Amino acid sequence: MSFTGNIGNAQGRNGHGGGGASGHVVLIGGGVIGKGWAVQLLAHGHRVVLADPAVGADEVARQVERSRLAVEGLGGDLRGWESRMDVVAGTGTGLESALDGAVWVQESGPEDPGFKSRLAAWLDERLPAEVVIASSTSGTMPSTLAAACTRAPGRVVVGHPFHPVPVIPLVEVVGNAHTTDDVAERACGFYRSLGKRPVRVRREVPGHLANRLQAALWREAYSLVERGVATVADVDAAVAHGPGLRWAAVGPLLGQHLGGGPGGMAHTLEHLGPPAQEWMDDLRDARLSPELVSLLVDGVDEEVGEREADELSAARDALLVRLLQDKRDVGRSLP
Ligand SMILES: NC(=O)c1ccc[n+]([C@@H]2O[C@H](COP(=O)([O-])OP(=O)(O)OC[C@H]3O[C@@H](n4cnc5c(N)ncnc54)[C@H](O)[C@@H]3O)[C@@H](O)[C@H]2O)c1
Repeated sequence: MSFTGNIGNAQGRNGHGGGGASGHVVLIGGGVIGKGWAVQLLAHGHRVVLADPAVGADEVARQVERSRLAVEGLGGDLRGWESRMDVVAGTGTGLESALDGAVWVQESGPEDPGFKSRLAAWLDERLPAEVVIASSTSGTMPSTLAAACTRAPGRVVVGHPFHPVPVIPLVEVVGNAHTTDDVAERACGFYRSLGKRPVRVRREVPGHLANRLQAALWREAYSLVERGVATVADVDAAVAHGPGLRWAAVGPLLGQHLGGGPGGMAHTLEHLGPPAQEWMDDLRDARLSPELVSLLVDGVDEEVGEREADELSAARDALLVRLLQDKRDVGRSLP
């Protein structure tokens, strides 16, 4: 065991006094994503130690309040969260003590591969081999993280969430060459236990899976705006009121199968495959030149108008919560 039980008093900064039993989760980095993980874990009954040199318990408390409606709408329970949460300062002695008895470590520090791989090696030296070291990284490959780990590199995985973490269920699980099926499945099981929807990425590639799919769409969207085919608002409307709705229900490929009627995917590809091939061949590249960046920034400003980003985020999250509730009820048989 022994979560030190006095992190809150000795090294922590939240005054809640820490825990006293084993089984806690350690979060490293408490920015946008780390705080999101904290809320998700607290809502599922975990005790959490969050290590960040710049984030205090007050910020976590604000995030809990901001996320409360969404989290509770999705079945989470935040009652008494304060007694299960502790905050320590960054990657120092407070963190070292907090590792004792940890069942899971999730790193969400700055997107700096050097920092992340040094941290993974430091954690690998200190944690029992069965404790998974997961990174939220969007941009670093699992093999880079594991390269300097000598004890149990296979337990170093990517567990890539989506913002806002307490709302969007997807977590991409990506192992490195040493990661066994058992570790990857344990990672998926852990995320599932938090109400997340893990997807295992079978081979590491830059950007994992969903961000590559997003990048494919962004590339074409940017190019269409640059060519004057559509405004930024037109692109958003075309996706949000069109295929985006179907994608949220069944994904892009099962969507094609269902669009094929009784002939399914084979029929879709037979009659719509040739034109789709032409469209794919016509897709353009997009370079984020200063001109294109201005075009996109101005286009979004025009689309947003007088509305505040907070207002739009709150409306987005409220809609997503309803959609997720309906996905659970009506969409039980869907992916
Ligand atoms: N923002 C997103 O949409 C998103 C989505 C999925 C994954 N990610 C990934 O999650 C990670 C975090 O991203 P973010 O957007 O939360 O970044 P962020 O900049 O909001 O947060 C990073 C946090 O790390 C802290 N930090 C810096 N040095 C530290 C140290 N030595 N020890 C502990 N904490 C330290 C910072 O104080 C900061 O609070 C990145 O790897 C990113 O790729 C981000």
